[in-house]
Amino acid sequence: MNSAITLAAQARGYAKAARELEDRKESERARELYLKAAKLYNDASMLSKDDMDKNTQRDLAEHLFARAQALKGSNAVSSGGTLEGNRSSGNNDESSITKDDVFLKEIPDIGFPDIGGLEDVKEEIRKAIIYPFTHKELYQMYGQKAGEGILLYGPPGCGKTMMAKAAAKECGAEFISVKTSTIVSKWVGASEKNIKQIFDIARQGKRSIIFFDEIDSIATRRSESEDYAKRVVNELLAQMDGVDTASDDLLVLAATNEPWAIDPALRRPGRFSKLVFVPEPDLEARKAILHIHLKKRPIDDDLDISYLSEITDSYSGADLAAICKEAADIPLGEALRGGNPRKIKMQDFETVLQKRKPSIVSWYIEAKTAVQKTGEEEVFSELVQK
Ligand SMILES: Nc1ncnc2c1ncn2[C@@H]1O[C@H](COP(=O)(O)OP(=O)(O)OP(=O)(O)O)[C@@H](O)[C@H]1O
Ligand SMILES: [Mg+2]
Repeated sequence: MNSAITLAAQARGYAKAARELEDRKESERARELYLKAAKLYNDASMLSKDDMDKNTQRDLAEHLFARAQALKGSNAVSSGGTLEGNRSSGNNDESSITKDDVFLKEIPDIGFPDIGGLEDVKEEIRKAIIYPFTHKELYQMYGQKAGEGILLYGPPGCGKTMMAKAAAKECGAEFISVKTSTIVSKWVGASEKNIKQIFDIARQGKRSIIFFDEIDSIATRRSESEDYAKRVVNELLAQMDGVDTASDDLLVLAATNEPWAIDPALRRPGRFSKLVFVPEPDLEARKAILHIHLKKRPIDDDLDISYLSEITDSYSGADLAAICKEAADIPLGEALRGGNPRKIKMQDFETVLQKRKPSIVSWYIEAKTAVQKTGEEEVFSELVQK
């Protein structure tokens, strides 16, 4: 019986052949091979044990299927799926893309005070993002090049996305958050064009930060990726090289918890040349995070937040937020069942902690192996020390 790996390898072969046929304008034959490749990826995704492989294979199947549809010369919007492509309301047409599918433009409501701890990271962000925007002339006067791209990386749930939003808020920039997962699964054919369009839109704004969250889903090492994924990375590189930090009020930020999986070319000068590690919260940070998440909840005098911070070593910010919510659910549930409303007690936290274990330990184990495999221990030294 075929394994997921074999099927995926066959799919890759068909996809490559289809692409070559398409380039030679042999559309009908290309379409057949795209469909074969899509089916093989789909079959592979059903057999894959690894969630990430599964998702990638499913996305690739979707992509290749849409590619075949586009070649059919039908009315499918897929091949022209530009940002302006319209989706009629209520229509579940997977192949059309709207602006909202791809990115969100907002002024975030999260600021530095909402982020517990991580003082060093905040200071790095101030120097790398906020001061270059707010003290542009000073930077120019001293010949300091500001505004290189920044890649935030670290364990899941430790505040990378929050930090990016807060950075935009702190410097009053428009925050253009690009939904990278949508790019992978739906952005058909027009992906390069649309990346360019995002940068063009950002340049029109007053002061903008483009944020590629979970960038690993679109910027994998080109040696290991499909042709269409390579084109996305190439366009991203070209756009980043084209950002003129002197005249563009534009910064590019990205976040990932798999920095080792990203194409190293993206880390060259002028691109994401600054890497900022966002670690799990230390004792003080855990205390601050617990305070933030308990601020608006009724807590009993017996609740010792310092002690709680001590016993939650290795828990992420997201774990701590969840613990606070789950502890509050206990007296809430009792009150809903007719009991007298009471404050949240230490005992509630102890009950919750028995069930919820720290989520980042396994991430460090995986990170260490992955970084050692790529031989980039010096670049990601924080990940191999543990
Ligand atoms: N330092 C922090 N202070 C306050 N809350 C935090 C902090 N870190 C994480 N949280 C809580 O955890 C949630 C998840 O944080 P966030 O989305 O920023 O993590 P992330 O590092 O981007 O994770 P992922 O890698 O999974 O995308 C936040 O919405 C918040 O409730
Ligand atoms: Mg995130």
